[in-house]
Amino acid sequence: MNALQPYTLKSITLKNRIVMPPMCMYQATDGQVNAFHRAHYATRAMGQVGFIIVEATAVTPEGRITDRDLGIWSDDHLAGLKQLVEEVHAYGAKIGIQLQHAGRKSTSTSTPHLAPSAIPFSERYDTPNAMTQANIDKVIDAFKAAAIRADKAGFDAIELHGAHGYLINEFLSPLTNQRTDAYGGSAKKRGRFLHELVNAIRPVWPTNKLFQIRVTAEEYHPDGNHPQEVIEHLRPVSEAFDLIHVSSGGLVNVSMSPFPLYQVDFAKAIKTALNKPVIAVGLITTPQQVEDVLKEVDLVALGRELLRHPYWVNAAYAADHNVDAVFESYRRGYQ
Ligand SMILES: Cc1cc2nc3c(=O)[nH]c(=O)nc-3n(C[C@H](O)[C@H](O)[C@H](O)COP(=O)(O)O)c2cc1C
Repeated sequence: MNALQPYTLKSITLKNRIVMPPMCMYQATDGQVNAFHRAHYATRAMGQVGFIIVEATAVTPEGRITDRDLGIWSDDHLAGLKQLVEEVHAYGAKIGIQLQHAGRKSTSTSTPHLAPSAIPFSERYDTPNAMTQANIDKVIDAFKAAAIRADKAGFDAIELHGAHGYLINEFLSPLTNQRTDAYGGSAKKRGRFLHELVNAIRPVWPTNKLFQIRVTAEEYHPDGNHPQEVIEHLRPVSEAFDLIHVSSGGLVNVSMSPFPLYQVDFAKAIKTALNKPVIAVGLITTPQQVEDVLKEVDLVALGRELLRHPYWVNAAYAADHNVDAVFESYRRGYQ
């Protein structure tokens, strides 16, 4: 089974190739980790997920999607995050955290909501403030401070949330970035915010830990970014990243019908073009699918499947009484 082979990048060795992708649980108050988060993530670690990426965690209060999001905008969040890391590490999983600014998709009571341009996501959302240079500088500083805190808390990886129509994605897309200054216009100028963000974070994030980005490879709109445009946005910064997590959608209010493995081709295209390790995600639910996908990419994430079945890895690989992959205390359950 390829899925059970360890995978090493930098100083981080994952015990297998199964990833829990970031999934917002909306259970926090004031951004703080609580008993729910510790139980939720430790359970997946006991379930033998190799690499857990904590849900979108806001770098500023107004960068939350909702008031119930996790936060990393203050040193007050450090103790809770540190405890979470320790509990997940205790069961042998590695743990990263997704650093988030929700941009125009924030519904938090913290304001002002910020975006590259003053265009609302839909009529149900506020019209955001188009960011001033001071706003941009402040948000970049907030990401940098968050990365420093993530290191102090002991995380093995940080993932920039560059997908799903949140702030970074909003700068990259011509649909949401209609600025006429240095941050908008040409594709190169739309990439400037990400470039500055990477330049601010890279020096403060240890080089032996993983620095990754999640992208929306396809915006499902004819005038939006498609895999080729996303590859060109990533190319100038790809040297900085160890791993690219490939998702799609969320930028504009359109519906599409996902099907099994629907984003794997995007992940493969990005891997091939940039020669970088990638995580594939999206309606991957069976051990056979995981094996097939691992022929094309480096790591495989299972999202909703791990919400339904936290012990998926234990169960999936315990067939024929091969219990080596099962958490030791649970082996009797499979013998
Ligand atoms: C409840 C829920 C919350 C999510 N929250 C996030 C998030 O915080 N950050 C993110 O990048 N994606 C988020 N996603 C998307 C998942 O990470 C994943 O990409 C998506 O569910 C597709 O994978 P799946 O078919 O295996 O579930 C969320 C998905 C779900 C179902």
